[in-house]
Amino acid sequence: MIRSDYLIIGSGIAGLSLALKASKNGSVSLVTKKKLFDSATGKAQGGIACVTDESDSFEAHIRDTIISGAGLCNEKMVEKMVVEGPERIKELIALGVKFTKKKDSDSEFELALEGGHGKRRILHAGDITGNEIERVLIRNIEKHKNITVYEHYTAIDLILDKDRICRGVYVFDNENNNTEIFEAKITILTCGGAGKTYLYTSNPDVATGDAVAMAYRAGADIANMEFVQFHPTCLYSSDAKSFLISEAVRGEGAVLKLKDGGSFIEKYSPQKELAPRDIVARAIDNELKSRGEKFVYLDITVRSKDFLMKRFPNIYAKCLEYGIDISKDMIPVVPAAHFFCGGVVIDENGRTSIKNLYAAGETACSGVHGANRLASNSLLEGVVYADRVYKDSLQFLGKEYSEANVKPIDNIKFSVNESAVFAQKKEEEVRRLTWDYLGISRSNEKLLKAQEEADILKVEIEQYFKEVPFTADGIELRNMMFITEMIVRSAVQRKESRGLHFNTDYPFLLPDAKDTLINIR
Ligand code: SIN
Repeated sequence: MIRSDYLIIGSGIAGLSLALKASKNGSVSLVTKKKLFDSATGKAQGGIACVTDESDSFEAHIRDTIISGAGLCNEKMVEKMVVEGPERIKELIALGVKFTKKKDSDSEFELALEGGHGKRRILHAGDITGNEIERVLIRNIEKHKNITVYEHYTAIDLILDKDRICRGVYVFDNENNNTEIFEAKITILTCGGAGKTYLYTSNPDVATGDAVAMAYRAGADIANMEFVQFHPTCLYSSDAKSFLISEAVRGEGAVLKLKDGGSFIEKYSPQKELAPRDIVARAIDNELKSRGEKFVYLDITVRSKDFLMKRFPNIYAKCLEYGIDISKDMIPVVPAAHFFCGGVVIDENGRTSIKNLYAAGETACSGVHGANRLASNSLLEGVVYADRVYKDSLQFLGKEYSEANVKPIDNIKFSVNESAVFAQKKEEEVRRLTWDYLGISRSNEKLLKAQEEADILKVEIEQYFKEVPFTADGIELRNMMFITEMIVRSAVQRKESRGLHFNTDYPFLLPDAKDTLINIR
């Protein structure tokens, strides 16, 4: 049994920034299923949207966020994110994060533009912003005695007592094949999203929706799981696994083109390449399907090699590895699953519907993204709502810890031959199902098929999970299956097309915008 004041699951911007603050007041166990660095934050390219320029305003950032959210943003939560953003950015800078400054300036940031933003307001560190933030947070974490890091530990399920208060988490030690009990006064879920549930994704392999699945199984309220954001421009290549071509490239003038060189985006939005992401991704999807083609092109050859190497060093180098010189060649791109706007419902302090359980970042549904997240708002949401969790958590610290009498779980089960092969096969089936039936464009028939296949998979995977000793892959497979079930349940509830959810049988907006709420209580 491992006990601490705070138990934080996940090591992206929300988990790490919270751990640093929490460690000032209590002991922190920080659990992550691979290395600390393995998170979606570490891969974020574009940046972090925040009002820092005098010509910008909170009102404008709030307005852009709400327009992008297609009528479903929680305006109070958006306002908190936007208004508290600058303070959180100052904290990151004080910890050592270096955002790119304007040429010849020590103080002024070079601000990027991305889809849906009315002006340049995105702080970035070249095109490896998440990497820079993650690197600095980890360096600071390593200095803290009050934080114990558990790498290669995979959370299995939440532990709730008879009063339905969260007492911690059952965790699998990947390297020693043991299960452990982690108890804590408060548990915080910051495990990111579930892009890996889809066959094609910009996300790292760790994005298997573990926290949302655990919270769902424990009976927490979950909302808006149908709003899966597809990033319009991932590199199309059989070798370049999930490599993103940042929206900031379009912000610097890149245009979308068909194979024959013709343009198409103006048919879909007057904002063209810088329309909100749902519109651009759907436009590309539509062109690909109607033409029977596999990719479109992104063309940034209007910019010089010098500019591109300086502004997008990572993208430039990565594309070159695949034989594409982006200063001369067009980049083949396709949409891929990128971000979940839904998740575990939280209030303004990050509390979930289960006592002593908090969530922040992509795992949570705070309502700031509504039906379609505005580009580069996710790192901002993570750092702002992690801070709100921290402030709210202070009330627990004076309290005595009471024994929960948690029973260990049995990991010694009879082994089924070829279980690893089964897990791999079922994972492919889950990811193919989501891609085929729960993708950019849905229909009632597709949703029905998804439901039928998901029901069969659920029985098979739950049986497997009961019979076979835990493995990290088995735990992830089960979580991806639950995420699929949640997407289907939410998508079936929504009888309209809004933001990221497009159903050809209901191609209209209903007058009343409502969240889709699900739970299994
Ligand atoms: C990108 O760089 O295009 C991704 C930014 C985001 O998802 O907000």
